[in-house]
Amino acid sequence: MEKIAILCSGGDVSGMNPAIKRFVEYTYAKGMQPFFVYNGYEGLIDDHISEAHYEDVAGIMIRGGTKIRSARSVRFKEASYRAIAAENLRQKGISKLIVLGGDGSFRGMEHFYNETGIAFCGIPSTIDNDINGTDYCLGVDTALNVIKNAIDSIRDTASSFRRAFVIETMGRDCGYLALVSAITSGAEVCLIPEIPIDIHEYKGCFESQIRKGRDYFIAIVSEGLKNSSQVARWFEDELGFESRVSVLGHIQRGGNPSVYDRLMAYQFVTHAIDALQNGNNNSVICYTKSHFNFKSISEVALNPYTLDEALLTLGREQFAPSHCQM
Ligand code: F6P
Repeated sequence: MEKIAILCSGGDVSGMNPAIKRFVEYTYAKGMQPFFVYNGYEGLIDDHISEAHYEDVAGIMIRGGTKIRSARSVRFKEASYRAIAAENLRQKGISKLIVLGGDGSFRGMEHFYNETGIAFCGIPSTIDNDINGTDYCLGVDTALNVIKNAIDSIRDTASSFRRAFVIETMGRDCGYLALVSAITSGAEVCLIPEIPIDIHEYKGCFESQIRKGRDYFIAIVSEGLKNSSQVARWFEDELGFESRVSVLGHIQRGGNPSVYDRLMAYQFVTHAIDALQNGNNNSVICYTKSHFNFKSISEVALNPYTLDEALLTLGREQFAPSHCQM
């Protein structure tokens, strides 16, 4: 029986558990034997690899995080540790691997494949949605819903207290989470690396809004800008508005996976297993223009991600200080 393993690498996302469940079910359906690698590439090196069974995945559909845990491995960047990892797989007769992770994890896999011939398929998984070549990464929808709920709750207190709230979202250097959240929550301000805005340009417009009765502000700021406290201070110093910074932090990575992420997890894994069975040995399964397609690691991992132009245009229109309604 052919043997295939799955692992999670890098920041966990909600949707990994549904993917793991589908992996076990579909592997058996295809007449193969499924294995789990625990703790990402660290587990590959340390031989935390064991056979997976149906009962292991019972009830995990609704759980955030990952049952098989994840890690960021420094050791896997070294060829000597990759050789140990390959030997661990060979001893168990495992010749195929599915990797849920980001572009850094895929770059590691590219080296691994070239050195060992162990086939793999990557599934883009990061709440940052910053992987080139795919419109969607597993976990993004759940993260956006967690952020939406947080902003809606903060709006309740902001509107009761005459305050400005600066809400910082994750995303590393990518403004996707902040932009989509700002548009869909009706925020007054959205600051992301991809749309440079000088907050001072809002001053006249916001003063006019305050004169007409506005009594709270919501500003969404991407963590990549590292300026949430300065923005909060601007509301205090320039508008005389008491302000608070709310860093949403790791709650964005957790929570019960959304319906969309459960479905995407099932589809990503199904395509990944089919690809490996059909001899597609070294690719990432991407989702673009509502279709699944396979891309090479070089296409995915060697080029920087750029935010969708239509979304950026929407953001520029919505949040341009020159469009601010007095
Ligand atoms: O890449 C996912 C992510 O959650 C980023 O949005 C964030 O900057 C980073 O990981 C946080 O990393 P850590 O969990 O190591 O603090």
